[in-house]
Amino acid sequence: MIAALAALQPHLARVQAVMTAALASPEPRVQSLIDELGGFHGKMLRPSLCLLMAEATGGVEDGHLTIGAALELIHTATLVHDDLIDDADTRRGKATAHTRFGNTTAILIGDYLYTHAFHTVARLGEPRIMERLTATTNIVCRGELHQQVAERQGDLSEAEYERIVYGKTAALTELAGESGAWGRDPRFAAAGAAYGRACGIAFQIVDDCLDLAGDAQKVGKTLATDLERGRVTLPIIRALATTPASERAAAERLLLHAGDPAEVARARDYVIDRGGLRSAIATARDRVAEAKRALAPLPPSPATAHLHDLADFIVARDF
Ligand code: IPE
Ligand code: IPE
Ligand code: MG
Ligand code: MG
Repeated sequence: MIAALAALQPHLARVQAVMTAALASPEPRVQSLIDELGGFHGKMLRPSLCLLMAEATGGVEDGHLTIGAALELIHTATLVHDDLIDDADTRRGKATAHTRFGNTTAILIGDYLYTHAFHTVARLGEPRIMERLTATTNIVCRGELHQQVAERQGDLSEAEYERIVYGKTAALTELAGESGAWGRDPRFAAAGAAYGRACGIAFQIVDDCLDLAGDAQKVGKTLATDLERGRVTLPIIRALATTPASERAAAERLLLHAGDPAEVARARDYVIDRGGLRSAIATARDRVAEAKRALAPLPPSPATAHLHDLADFIVARDF
């Protein structure tokens, strides 16, 4: 674990306690399902972003723990539903919710996580915070929907890809960065939003590269689901951009309609040979640099240094 996250562990343990309390049920059968799922958290990047921004701009308060918990609950809800959609077996190194409990229960668990996130934040009694959180969740859902209707569309541009990625991933990290500095110097909140947005875009680009060429064991989740579903991610767009016009139709057939594991493997090799993976990673690095530049208005401090390290961590993730 990087030092930036290690230093946050005491705060993150409190965020996890808020999540556990929020999800507690008076019904023993429901509670035992919640217990069995265990934890409901992964790397905790979104709460970490919020808490580091809070530390860098005046200190962590109880409200940040609640917002951090809500961000992680919403993120986890999207993953429970996403794994069902993607037919993925493994998440966070364990069997996914729908594989363990069936599709119906997984849909209901996702709903349970969403509604408890909203209720927890509603209890803060801050309508402005509630408005931002719900508006952002709308954008996340729109991003997933947009991705769904854009599957196998060979004319998908980089600009449209970026809008999908902003929706499904970067809107929530933008809110994480912004919310850490709420109520403080407005330049800090704007810096946090810009930092979180650029980190989120970089993070999803790297995730899309990992899906293509990562090691499932190291990443801890099922990979290659994007190729199987014909998702037009940045490495694929870049590979298609270097494909001669005469080969374009065949390349689109291979990359967007890979039917079996042998075709998926051929598609992956094609993207790598065309330089699509390398070029996408270079763009992710540019977005990390942009994220770090966005931190310029923050006063220098250990927390600000940790925000720089967290941004670097995004592109240093293990393949
Ligand atoms: C996975 O996010 C989903 C994406 C946005 C790519 P994380 O990699 O942050 O997932 P966890 O929470 O650590 O499992
Ligand atoms: C979906 O993205 C996760 C959300 C941001 C809602 P992915 O499908 O790429 O996430 P992974 O790869 O399954 O973690
Ligand atoms: Mg997925
Ligand atoms: Mg992915």
